[in-house]
Amino acid sequence: MALYAIGDLHLHFQSELKAPGQLRDRVWKNHEEKFRKNCEKLITAEDTLVLIGDHSWGKNLSECEQDLQYICDLPGRKILTRGNHDMFWDAKKTKHLNDLYQPRLTFLQDSYEVYHDYALVGTKGYTFEGPFWLDRRGRIVDWDEAEEAHAKKLVERELARLRTSFELAQADGYRKYIMFLHYPPTNILEERSGFTDMAEEFGAEQVIYAHSHGESRFHDSIHGEFRGIMYHLASGDYLRWHPLKILD
Ligand SMILES: [Fe+2]
Ligand SMILES: [Fe+2]
Repeated sequence: MALYAIGDLHLHFQSELKAPGQLRDRVWKNHEEKFRKNCEKLITAEDTLVLIGDHSWGKNLSECEQDLQYICDLPGRKILTRGNHDMFWDAKKTKHLNDLYQPRLTFLQDSYEVYHDYALVGTKGYTFEGPFWLDRRGRIVDWDEAEEAHAKKLVERELARLRTSFELAQADGYRKYIMFLHYPPTNILEERSGFTDMAEEFGAEQVIYAHSHGESRFHDSIHGEFRGIMYHLASGDYLRWHPLKILD
């Protein structure tokens, strides 16, 4: 029995592909097939796979049906969290998705799931990476304050959702946590954030995040141990479509 995670499948069986990099970069060529084969080699019916956002390019649920069916057909128990491109998933209507897909898929939002004596908690998160303007030496020379104010609201909303997830698990007696985000826990300018602080507050053992694509973005946030917590990037292209093992 094992717990695995990966993010950013960016499936598009029924929808238009919107990321040009996904056409050019070899790592994305037939990635659905590579990933399916890797899962079939690695994951058994007793295992759990957490898919941490950006599941589909589809604009609505009907454009995502084949993408979600592909995920249903992967081995093991599947838990999904939201990514920034998951237009089919309104956070306030998560119950509707669970009504449609459980027990084949579980959509985690303002809730938690159990793996052994661990609570699996999470939300989409948010990292504000600008807009700022840099000079030739990479120094910040200007900043859009209206955008920053908007971003702060998004961060607060996501932190509240994450706290709900932790507190529900805590109220049910769980004391061991694995925390999942779609966005990296910090932006490229931060060492800490509200998300790393919350992971520390509740004593999460690991924080798993995705969203960073391409070699130039893989090191935007924390890798490895930081203040007693293990951080792992699990975007699909970073992992070359091999699910990351989180726990035995
Ligand atoms: Fe993505
Ligand atoms: Fe993303």
